[in-house]
Amino acid sequence: MTEAIHKDQPKQSEISTPKQTGSIAPLILAIETSCDDTAVAVVRGSEVLSNVITSQDIHNLYGGVVPELASREHMKAMAPVTHAALAHADVGIGDIDAIAVTTGPGLPGSLIVGTHFARGLAFKLQKPLIAINHIEAHMYSGYLEHPGLPFPSVCLVVSGGHTSLFYVESFTTYSVLGRTKDDAAGEAFDKVAKMLGLGYPGGPHIDRLAKEGNAATYNFPRGLMHEEGYDFSFSGLKTSVRYYIQRVKDEGGIINNADIAASVQRAIVDVLVSKTLKAADAVDAPAVCIAGGVSANSELRSTMLKRCAEANRMFVAPRTDYSVDNAAMIGFLAGRRLANVQELS
Ligand code: KG4
Ligand code: ZN
Repeated sequence: MTEAIHKDQPKQSEISTPKQTGSIAPLILAIETSCDDTAVAVVRGSEVLSNVITSQDIHNLYGGVVPELASREHMKAMAPVTHAALAHADVGIGDIDAIAVTTGPGLPGSLIVGTHFARGLAFKLQKPLIAINHIEAHMYSGYLEHPGLPFPSVCLVVSGGHTSLFYVESFTTYSVLGRTKDDAAGEAFDKVAKMLGLGYPGGPHIDRLAKEGNAATYNFPRGLMHEEGYDFSFSGLKTSVRYYIQRVKDEGGIINNADIAASVQRAIVDVLVSKTLKAADAVDAPAVCIAGGVSANSELRSTMLKRCAEANRMFVAPRTDYSVDNAAMIGFLAGRRLANVQELS
């Protein structure tokens, strides 16, 4: 287990209101265990006092997340990571005003560990428990780092499990513009990396290798890129790469991994950028955000930045420890939801 410090369809989150003293935002202990990262953060408003993430290296051996192992690793990590988050924030458990936890979507066994731990803590401390949707938290992560970011925005959430495009009007109102019809973009990166014999997760390997390759070498399919609407499809790309590798092997040829990595990355980025910018134009959103693990991709970031600048739109890609699975985004959204309840009451 390595520790990185400071590192399907959304539903409305459940809310119960904690007592607030004066105008100080409540101190929230946030827990995220939806997949293979055990993450705990201490957050007050948009101030992140600690953001502890432990990644489960054990899955690297299997080339993908093994759900049963993930929940066992969460059980081992839950208490130590919580202690670390409190220690890094320099607060005691008694200082916490509310507990926030990811309730889905995610691996059921992983979610259960986090939600049970959170429920137990809330009960013991007699503090409110706030249920947060994982995808909604990714969607608002740009606002965590840039609280002044305007609404409406178009937000692309791209991870190993999700590829969805949202029209975001406020902290409580948004709609889904499109989503993947098959594989998520991160899944496409991971599967191609596996075909090339690279490690898991594959996205960072492809990103690195692509820098040494020529992206114009192969014209891999760009699923649904020229279709109406904002849905995505990456399964055709994956199949095309598999057939190409097989054919070269059958013919006794040599595969140039760097050229494949660069061409695959270009195909994925082309589709993501084209659909996102098309949506931003259609709704005339002043801001564009990307979030989720794939938003760490260097070509996706640089291309989005360039295209948004040309279109005169603000572009935000959260820093890596707020864009991968993390609990700071969970605590931040929980705080916003509480603030909204208080404004309404
Ligand atoms: O959001 P995340 O940490 O976990 C969930 O899937 O919810 O995203 C993980 C995904 C993996 O598919 C991984 O390969 C991909 O994000 N990823 C990247 C990069 N870094 C992580 N994909 C492309 N380029 C990267 N630099
Ligand atoms: Zn995620």
